[in-house]
Amino acid sequence: MAALVPVEPFDLAIFGATGDLALGKLLPSLFHRWCDGQIPANSRIIAVARDELDDAAFRQLVRKRYLEGYERDLDEDSTWHAFAERLVYVPLNATDRDSDWSLLKAAFGDSSRLRLFYLALPPSLYAPASENLAHHGLNSPGSRIVLEKPIGSNFHTAREINQRVGEVFGEDSIFRIDHYLGKESVQNLLILRFGNWLFEPIWNATGIDHVQITVAESVGAGKRAAYYDTAGALRDMVQNHLLQLMCLVAMEPPSDLEADTVRTEKLKVLQALRPIRADDISGKAVRARYASGAIKGEAVPGYEAELGQSSDTETFVAIKAEIDNWRWAGVPFYLRTGKRMSHRYSEIVIQFKPVPHDVVKADSGKIRPNRLIIRLQPDEAVRLMLMTKDPGPGGVRVRYVPLNLSYAETFEKNYPDAYERLLMAVIRGNLGLFMRRDEVEAAWRWTDQILQSWTDSQSPVLTYPAGTDGPAESALLLAKDNREWFDESRT
Ligand code: NDP
Ligand code: BG6
Repeated sequence: MAALVPVEPFDLAIFGATGDLALGKLLPSLFHRWCDGQIPANSRIIAVARDELDDAAFRQLVRKRYLEGYERDLDEDSTWHAFAERLVYVPLNATDRDSDWSLLKAAFGDSSRLRLFYLALPPSLYAPASENLAHHGLNSPGSRIVLEKPIGSNFHTAREINQRVGEVFGEDSIFRIDHYLGKESVQNLLILRFGNWLFEPIWNATGIDHVQITVAESVGAGKRAAYYDTAGALRDMVQNHLLQLMCLVAMEPPSDLEADTVRTEKLKVLQALRPIRADDISGKAVRARYASGAIKGEAVPGYEAELGQSSDTETFVAIKAEIDNWRWAGVPFYLRTGKRMSHRYSEIVIQFKPVPHDVVKADSGKIRPNRLIIRLQPDEAVRLMLMTKDPGPGGVRVRYVPLNLSYAETFEKNYPDAYERLLMAVIRGNLGLFMRRDEVEAAWRWTDQILQSWTDSQSPVLTYPAGTDGPAESALLLAKDNREWFDESRT
């Protein structure tokens, strides 16, 4: 296990500090890094939102929400008390230039310290909040700003946000979060591909039949329903998380792992994505919304019942994506994501081509193509499905078995959660785990086209019962190519 190296002391202002992301993810992540001694004791965390709270009331809020997610006796925990002391609260309207910004200025240390602004705010506030920071002279040289996904709700709004934030913070000071890039198993994709000779020679249309990327959730829209209903699965998950995963699988080998080298290669993949037009969308993209059903034996209501109103929003998307370049010609990438599916898992499946000639007799069993399964969560693992001879007497019988690298069994320790890693990466200035402006905009161009094609073709939003793998049309998307979604229970 690599040693934990403390970061330099910093002043971090979290805008939207009373919101779900800040209380549920950011503050617990900072506390965990504090517990591991990675955060210097003189660092400051400045919480910003519009509520008129004082420091004590805010600390109480953080404590209460922490205890909803983690089992730990904070009252007797001196580490917690020391951490809580570092939290100060500043009431401020980020979009109001005339709000009392002097309180925020006073909360910061001297401007030579590393200064960070984390905008855990609705995306429509990213530009005005950044401009106000600049207007009040808070964007001192070397300061950094973190923007949560989604950056905007389409190409035009994303470009406007990027443009306006870019006028007051340089591109190298803007950290656009896609928390999937902070996951241990996602980072491993680069090493798996480029740290092994084994795969690269056949990582192309000669060796690979197709790729499947699934991010399935069993939860519904939950507390974030108001936001989710304006977004839907395509904007919420595909535009960012699934496309970033696809880029890491499909990109050309970078010459090094420097942020811009890798980001440039990812961008080329996004730029090579074939647009899905209205006249072929029915065969290439399926959207649906969950109806009532059952998950693990428990009845769950449908999306509209949860929302309390009717809706056109999709909670499930399956897409056949095609990358128009030499490496991937004729190799589809099937992307699938949904809420209220049978269980929560994220997985990349690389399906290799069949062997060119079958040497075993029919009664010996069936030779099946190799398959590399990269389980991102939960139970992170890399499994390579191979054909072997079934041991024992009685002639040749073949069996399809996994060569299994389970993280839990192979590595000794738990590793930091994605937000812990990303927060430390912002402080270290490691841009490699964040999206560059052009990547975000290229991803929006492709997803905007899909939304437009659905509208132009008047494609219906189908339904699927909660607790299933989506609508039957999702299976048909692959069936018409003589393929099927990978299902572990069938291997
Ligand atoms: P919430 O609605 O829960 O929180 C928004 C926060 O912003 C609140 O603290 C709110 O407090 C504050 N706020 C709103 N307007 C202003 C303002 N004018 N000035 C200062 N503070 C303001 O949203 P989330 O925490 O869920 O999401 C925040 C961002 O993170 C969004 O962009 C979201 O898309 C993104 N995100 C969230 C995830 C999550 O798990 N929650 C996951 C991935 C991304 P108040 O109204 O009191 O000012
Ligand atoms: C967020 C989406 O970006 O990712 C949520 O907005 C989704 O809708 C979440 O639930 C999934 O993240 P994870 O890490 O739980 O797979």
